[in-house]
Amino acid sequence: MITKPSFRRKRHGIYIHPLIILIAVLAAGAAGLTWYLRSAPFGSQEGQPSGSGGTAAPVQANAPPDTPPEHITTPSGIACTLTRLPENAIYAGNLILVNNWTEFHFPENQKDNLVCVLDERTDSYYARDNSLYLLPEAQAALNDFMDAYVEQGGKKSIQIVAAHRTVEYQQHLFDQSAERNGLEHAKRYVAQPGFSEHHTGLTVDLGTMSGDFMDSVGDYAWITENCQDYGWIVRYETGKEEITGIWDEPWHFRYVGIPHATEMARLDYCLEEYIDYLKIFPQDAAHLIINCVSGSYEVWYAEGTSVYLPDSTPCSVSGNNIDGFIVTCKTG
Ligand code: DAL
Ligand code: ZN
Repeated sequence: MITKPSFRRKRHGIYIHPLIILIAVLAAGAAGLTWYLRSAPFGSQEGQPSGSGGTAAPVQANAPPDTPPEHITTPSGIACTLTRLPENAIYAGNLILVNNWTEFHFPENQKDNLVCVLDERTDSYYARDNSLYLLPEAQAALNDFMDAYVEQGGKKSIQIVAAHRTVEYQQHLFDQSAERNGLEHAKRYVAQPGFSEHHTGLTVDLGTMSGDFMDSVGDYAWITENCQDYGWIVRYETGKEEITGIWDEPWHFRYVGIPHATEMARLDYCLEEYIDYLKIFPQDAAHLIINCVSGSYEVWYAEGTSVYLPDSTPCSVSGNNIDGFIVTCKTG
């Protein structure tokens, strides 16, 4: 006799209806998923995962499932609110990437926000003339950098030979270089007009009083080795030409702020690589933790213009000049 297979389950002689088992399994799955969603979005990473513990993002009552919460608390305990930033803010800040493929967007009345290096410099270095301008934050960081160089034993011999440039002046430099050294040489050492970091007010070329560019050898090695502690990076280095589009320029320094300059030095990343790297720390996932001479920082990247900004913790926000923002919060 053929008997029908029985779907009944018995446990110690107690009959459990399959529907009850199904409901129990679904309930357990839902509970597990809720826990994951509440704890997974935020972690933190210090170069690599540091697992400082996730903090649940408050879930808004009655919010559609794909609406991001208005408020979150990051792993370091920073209370943040989702904020809409203006589209053109993507083109401003210490971390904007400017290269031959990524044009600088000139702000209106840019000159009004720049300061004269000759007027603002400390006594530790020279400025070529009164035509050199920088953004105030870069100027202050340049003063700290040059003061530290002299304090640790460096001779007062550094001269700032270039800072902010207009598009017209960059065009003049490109044409002059092409005429003197050939087009290929000009392309290697002079950015296309409109695409130069010198347009930003965040860049200097260091020279010496003897009229040469600073070459980072001998006493000047200290400058290259320690620039990150003052927020500066050597922007164009040997081996990165294919990525930056520019050949080795030991004299060209770009201000990005101390935490990011420190992280870039640790990773040996140029700015193109670093801006890509920051994208692995989106605001709704693990964040980057940076420890440097000025303290500890929690960093995240926001694609687009909806950005979680701290309610009260000090932070800086920079566009990346491409598609979003980097938030850098001081946590200690
Ligand atoms: N020398 C650098 C690449 C510039 O022209 O911006
Ligand atoms: Zn330069």
